[in-house]
Amino acid sequence: MFTDLKSLHSEICSEDITDLFDRDPDRAATFSVRHETLLFDYSKTRITSRVRTGLTTLCEKRGVAAKRDAMFLGGRINETEKRAVLHTALRDPEGPELLVDGEDIRRPLRETLERMEDLARRVRSGAMQGPGGAFTDVVNIGIGGSDLGPVMATLALAPYHDGPRCHFVSNVDGAHIHDILQRIDPRTTLVIVASKTFTTVETMTNAGTARRWVEAGGGDPAQQFLALSTSEEETEAFGIPQEHVFGFEDWVGGRYSVWGPIGLSVMLAVGPENFRAFLAGGKSMDDHFLSAPWERNMPVMLALTGIWHNQVCGYPTRAVLPYDQRLRRLPAYLQQLEMESNGKSVAMDGSALPFPSGPVVWGEPGTNGQHAFYQLLHQGTSVIPAEFLVAAMGHEPELAHHHKLLVANCLAQSEALMRGRGLDEARARMRAEGYEGAELERQARHRVFPGNRPSTTLIYPQLTPYVLGQIIALYEHRVFVEGVILGINSFDQWGVELGKELANTLAPLLAGETSPDGKDGSTRALLDYVRGTKG
Ligand code: F6P
Repeated sequence: MFTDLKSLHSEICSEDITDLFDRDPDRAATFSVRHETLLFDYSKTRITSRVRTGLTTLCEKRGVAAKRDAMFLGGRINETEKRAVLHTALRDPEGPELLVDGEDIRRPLRETLERMEDLARRVRSGAMQGPGGAFTDVVNIGIGGSDLGPVMATLALAPYHDGPRCHFVSNVDGAHIHDILQRIDPRTTLVIVASKTFTTVETMTNAGTARRWVEAGGGDPAQQFLALSTSEEETEAFGIPQEHVFGFEDWVGGRYSVWGPIGLSVMLAVGPENFRAFLAGGKSMDDHFLSAPWERNMPVMLALTGIWHNQVCGYPTRAVLPYDQRLRRLPAYLQQLEMESNGKSVAMDGSALPFPSGPVVWGEPGTNGQHAFYQLLHQGTSVIPAEFLVAAMGHEPELAHHHKLLVANCLAQSEALMRGRGLDEARARMRAEGYEGAELERQARHRVFPGNRPSTTLIYPQLTPYVLGQIIALYEHRVFVEGVILGINSFDQWGVELGKELANTLAPLLAGETSPDGKDGSTRALLDYVRGTKG
């Protein structure tokens, strides 16, 4: 499928990206996309007009438009689980009738959103209290999509956070819940158990521990526990009263769920109005995705840049580098969104995928990363496309000089990756420092930057709830488009199952309840080590 693009790549791969700018003074404008206040610049890549035409042709060949429309209209595009994929409906509660199995989903969706808003207002105003008075703290217990979205968004929206303090427990490692519970009051803490299935072992173990902590501390779980789940049966079995349950349907995938009840902790933190602005930002990206032509469609061009770098150029990883400290959990959030969605080796029809699946996604905020792994980005032997994100303006006018430095560093990095520094320039520098002969030559080579390393930049005015909504929906649709082009199901995650099943067999082995026969030698030796360790 990528043959033509690969031959185009071999024709142009020795060209300097800087030459593309020299030849085309309008390159920055031609190879960037705007949507409302957002600007996505992919001009510091080797994508040319011919490449872009080849890439957009893939959208036609692979039926991106039809699949996209089917998704928005409730088609069962998650074929291996036979489910619709309708997280987009969560950010459009006032939209027209939308039928799933003959039922309009908008009305219940609006009702749940209004119940969430009512609860958030009561908690935030102190009208709803725990046994110890107004709620001072919220603990969201969840994992994967029931954790990463809420954590990422709550941190991102810190300047808008005027509700109770929010804490997030995800890991089954007791250290996680221990370290959080020890610093809060069991009588003024609201516990949210967030789990689509309400059977996830980590979440249910942590929820049980939290309930015992509330009871032991003089609290009342009946007043202090909320559940966010698709399973009425499981939440009831756990003992959470119906009025404390916020339900959703199986057409909301875990990693796409921050827009609905799973986002309740975000709403408690920033308030219903800001949460609505977050939803509106997501919807604005949906409308753009649905209507803009491929070349001016931001999620599509972000996806095609990814396809170009991974499947065509053969770069297996991508670095996400937010120059925005409050987006520090965005790389982790995107790891789940992208790798759980597109890390598949089987096509929708069950055949083996004939090309690499989605890339490894990783990253850290700038400028911290500059003092850690950027060495490899600039001088390592692997080419790693970098995706920068930065706001033109911070939230702290009194610290505007910090923000200028932050932006300067972000722009400097993408320039340095592209421009590099040749041997002649490195030699001249060393000569100026007094080196000569063989030592000059040796020292100069260490100071060469190959350059020509591609990067993209997403720039936005300020990280508001609306803009955050736009950014998250942008990445969701990017993953969708890449998945359709690759011909995989981006909405299942069978790859997480085997490890979970084996953990169930290992827990009784660790307790010495069953025999390790049938386990491999390494696993048996590790079990022996643990069982032989006395506290
Ligand atoms: O193990 C993977 C996974 O199923 C994710 O897809 C999901 O976000 C996470 O576990 C948590 O699942 P739940 O919300 O059902 O507890």
